[in-house]
Amino acid sequence: MKRKDILGLYDLSAEEIDEILSVGDSMKKLLRQNIKKLPHLQGKSVTTLFYENSTRTRCSFELAAKYMGAHVVNITAASSSVQKGETLVDTGKTLDAMRNDVIVIRHPMGGAPQLLAKTVKAHVVNAGDGMNEHPSQALLDMLTMRECFGKIKGLKVAIMGDIAHSRVAKSNLYGLKKLGAEVRFFAPRTLMPAEIDRMGAIVCKSREEAVEGADVVMGLRIQLERQHAGNFPSLGEYAKFYGVNEGVLKYAKQGALVMHPGPVNRGVELTSSLIDGDTSRIEEQVLSGIAVRMAMLFLLTKEEV
Ligand code: CP
Repeated sequence: MKRKDILGLYDLSAEEIDEILSVGDSMKKLLRQNIKKLPHLQGKSVTTLFYENSTRTRCSFELAAKYMGAHVVNITAASSSVQKGETLVDTGKTLDAMRNDVIVIRHPMGGAPQLLAKTVKAHVVNAGDGMNEHPSQALLDMLTMRECFGKIKGLKVAIMGDIAHSRVAKSNLYGLKKLGAEVRFFAPRTLMPAEIDRMGAIVCKSREEAVEGADVVMGLRIQLERQHAGNFPSLGEYAKFYGVNEGVLKYAKQGALVMHPGPVNRGVELTSSLIDGDTSRIEEQVLSGIAVRMAMLFLLTKEEV
């Protein structure tokens, strides 16, 4: 990989995505053997800079960097000089001055990682920016699918839920389309972005239409923190009319994978029995997350090793 930063899957070529998935696959095999001491990032410093809450993404970037021998510093907005009025650019310059090699940033504003990347020498990795992109999540989703099916090309992937506020949906759409999958979206009309079909998504009018013959059914979290208007009457009604349950899943292919980026609102986007069921890959996605983030950090920094 010959780029300084990973800011989104919109920018990455199919070859670059494939390279990350192939290295991620090797990393996952090592993790399955409980190998957690690798030399790939020895002598490197990685800072996670999170202006929004996170469990999975922040922890797995930290573990990925540590398993490969990097020094890791974690900064959250609540405990940093952002509280004293420091700008993002000045925070980035400060981290550069400390000879930091990689900044992994999550920010509520779309475009914040792009701004940071333009102003710092360190490699910048987007760990989720507003409603824009979440590239490492889509890459871990694709790694999980590829591991199960041996390929992405030709898969039918139904993504169901709060598409409008979802950076996960957008990154998955860009990545999956580039690798030849069919991507179907279903959401209440109030949570479906206008003209998303122009980006290559198939916009479905019902849950059953979206799930019909699908290889993968992915629920998305209702992002109450990003919604300022009542886009649906209540969570109960959302679950009843828009959620994925056993009846809806029957329309998918036999054994279709059930996925969710997490955190899950149990019983809202997916029923508890589907979350914990045999075809659920939600915990597998978490392991893929460490592997794919190891691949991203390694591929960005490897020229310098
Ligand atoms: N999927 C995801 O981004 O989870 P976190 O918010 O816990 O990082």
